Amino acid sequence: MLAIDLTGKRALVAGVGDERGLGFGIAKALAEAGATVAVATWPPLIKMFKLMLARPSSEALLTLRDGKRLGFSAIYPFDAEFDRLDAVPAEIREHRRYKDMGDFTVSGLAAAVAADGGVDLVVHSLANGAEVTKPLLETSRAGYLGAVSVSAYSNVSLVQHLGPLMRPGGSFVCLSYLAGQRVVPQYGGGMSSAKAALESDARVLAYEAGRKWGHRVNVISPGPYRSRAAEAIGPIDQMIAYAARTSPLPEAITAEEVGVTAAFLSSPLASGITGTVVYVDKGYSAMGLGGTTSG
Ligand code: NAI
Repeated sequence: MLAIDLTGKRALVAGVGDERGLGFGIAKALAEAGATVAVATWPPLIKMFKLMLARPSSEALLTLRDGKRLGFSAIYPFDAEFDRLDAVPAEIREHRRYKDMGDFTVSGLAAAVAADGGVDLVVHSLANGAEVTKPLLETSRAGYLGAVSVSAYSNVSLVQHLGPLMRPGGSFVCLSYLAGQRVVPQYGGGMSSAKAALESDARVLAYEAGRKWGHRVNVISPGPYRSRAAEAIGPIDQMIAYAARTSPLPEAITAEEVGVTAAFLSSPLASGITGTVVYVDKGYSAMGLGGTTSG
């Protein structure tokens, strides 16, 4: 039987801070495919995330399809805005939610991953734009650059720092959104620019990391999904309803569907795929004019 088999692979999913996000669904799918999974979590969320994992009511959520329990080999504190500790402003370094976290920057994460034996598969599942609710016409320089820094450059930095730790044949996957290609009016603050950069960078990184190390770099572009981050952006239910009216397949996407796609792209079955954007959006992105026929 042809199966996604990640047995013996070490995976890292960056951007898992609760059970509702796409990153959690991805981590679960990678574990179900047999990988050992570590996550990297934004420092302010670590405590709550660990409490959630320890709650008896989380057991069902943590049960894998073979009945085993999802457990993470490590939960690394990680702030994607910073590459080195000496570049972190003192007020963040000394903040109560950061000061006991060790080196939470990209280079600190890479050092911790190396000390734990390295990594084979990396998934970047994070984004943030402080001015996301503002139209681009009203976005400040700081807001725009902040969105691109956390949501796009962080992926470049992860490939730079973790690529050398991987055995040849490693895989990087990151998560984009259609707003990087087409106009989605409420996705502002430079976030659409960040997703466009993320996708373009993935193609260039696929070339450079492919030639340098033999690694692959791919992008998943999911349809609208009700995560905590999506709720913060605004009218996520409206977006899901619009996608339902417009897409070839009307059901909302699930984290499991994104997760199994990430597992496939990370697996040897996808050894011929790199520099690609895979849409997990029920076909929404294929439509030019939707919602006019009932089919
Ligand atoms: P989420 O809230 O579960 O994930 C975003 C994660 O990014 C959170 O864990 C948050 O703590 C983390 N994060 C934010 N700033 C950070 C920083 N400076 N350092 C480290 N981590 C940081 O939300 P969701 O929606 O699951 O997002 C995951 C990825 O999927 C993102 O790249 C998002 O843009 C993408 N995506 C989401 C869609 C949706 O409708 N929810 C649609 C298409 C793409």
